[in-house]
Amino acid sequence: MTPPPDNIIATETLGSTVPMKTVHVRSWGCQMNVYDSQRMVDLLAPLGYRPVDRADGADIVILNTCHIREKATEKLFSELGRLKETKQAKAASGGNMILAVAGCVAQAEGPVIMARARHVDIVVGPQSYHSLPELVARASRAKGEPILMTDFPVESKFDHLPEEASPRGVSAFLTIQEGCDKFCAFCVVPYTRGAEYSRPPGDILVEAARLALSGVRELTLLGQNVNAYHGGARDGTIWTLGQLIRAVAEIPGIDRIRYTTSHPNDMDDALIAAHAQVPALMPFLHLPVQSGSDRILARMNRKHSAADYLAVIERLRAARPDIALSSDFIVGFPGETEKDFQATLDLVVAVGFAQAYSFKYSPRPGTPASSAADAVPEAVKSERLARLQATILKGQMRFNQASVGQIVPVLLDRAGSRPGQLHGRSPHMQSVHVAAPVHLLGRIVSVRIEDGRALSLTGSLIQTEPGGMVT
Ligand code: 5AD
Ligand code: SF4
Repeated sequence: MTPPPDNIIATETLGSTVPMKTVHVRSWGCQMNVYDSQRMVDLLAPLGYRPVDRADGADIVILNTCHIREKATEKLFSELGRLKETKQAKAASGGNMILAVAGCVAQAEGPVIMARARHVDIVVGPQSYHSLPELVARASRAKGEPILMTDFPVESKFDHLPEEASPRGVSAFLTIQEGCDKFCAFCVVPYTRGAEYSRPPGDILVEAARLALSGVRELTLLGQNVNAYHGGARDGTIWTLGQLIRAVAEIPGIDRIRYTTSHPNDMDDALIAAHAQVPALMPFLHLPVQSGSDRILARMNRKHSAADYLAVIERLRAARPDIALSSDFIVGFPGETEKDFQATLDLVVAVGFAQAYSFKYSPRPGTPASSAADAVPEAVKSERLARLQATILKGQMRFNQASVGQIVPVLLDRAGSRPGQLHGRSPHMQSVHVAAPVHLLGRIVSVRIEDGRALSLTGSLIQTEPGGMVT
């Protein structure tokens, strides 16, 4: 029998051949985009599309975009420029590449994308991507007639997502909440992702159990405002995040639970108690504060002061003394003075973050802060960012060096950067490099930490009796 061409696979069950097409998804931005990208692949799997790493030759290319900070749109258009040639090359070989733009830039700039990049076939927002199979079918028929889908449908997209098409590895994301009602003055999320929505706890537990069965040991529960989670159960009760974490921890195979991103005002007592009482809940929390200045926090519409934030940290540390903290900071928000900025530096030192992200303020179209008259000059923003990052890095270094000499349980999640090394995460989310055989991937091993740098730790495997060091 003649072997099938490359893009045809034999399906033994059907005893026939099914055309195997390919989809390439490029994801920018937050972890929720990573989750969404995986779900898009799941949605297209029943149609015969398998994921590939390269856009060249792919039948569908999806750009899953992020709009949180500047240059997102320019980055998208330069990528679309490159992909025009890729699409032409596919057409020249007799094929058809469907080009889709998804994510928050699609939501915010849909008509602009359609007007400026005529070779885009589909523009689909974050709340509509469950329609991808239908949109792809329409695009295949329409050939050149672009489709825009940026509704906020009344029905939940989550009800339309299929089971995962492929295993997720050892550490996976699970979206439990989406959207935000907080309206921080700088942020596009309430406009691109819409109003706060929490998935029902039953649906989340089913998905978590499926992931555990596929080999996932660490679950990160995702939401733009994840600790505002309030999911309605079938019996009419409303679950909080603390309750949900306790239920997820009961799922056999789930050894580690994390959640991100949280707002300080939503750290309720039940959630803080979970940090004290649920061993699977890792002692690490990403809790953005944005600024250490009360004046700037008020202008940001954060609805908390620096002291409120410090009080939350105190409650967390009382519950879980070894909890490590991370945060987000914006420098150069309109009206920020040197004194305001100093207050941010003071807060960084006072908390002692294990890690933190910092950004120059970037005006986002349509957000209240974007029309402020007292913008901070770019050079000042850059200079403050450099000082803030130096302070954060010093703290990170201190935190990591304090691990030297300790024995730490590390979940090995991928190959390391050097041959013979594996990479894993400590409970405190530190990157750990360790010489270890590849069959230990997916295991939690004991590592003696020997070196601590600002960005990672190195250590060696503890050799005990066979099986004694590994779970
Ligand atoms: N400019 C700079 N940083 C921003 N972030 C959100 N919006 C902006 C903006 N307009 C940062 C915040 C947020 C993180 C995800 O991105 O710090 O917590
Ligand atoms: Fe944006 Fe977070 Fe503020 Fe919501 S809470 S508006 S997602 S920064």
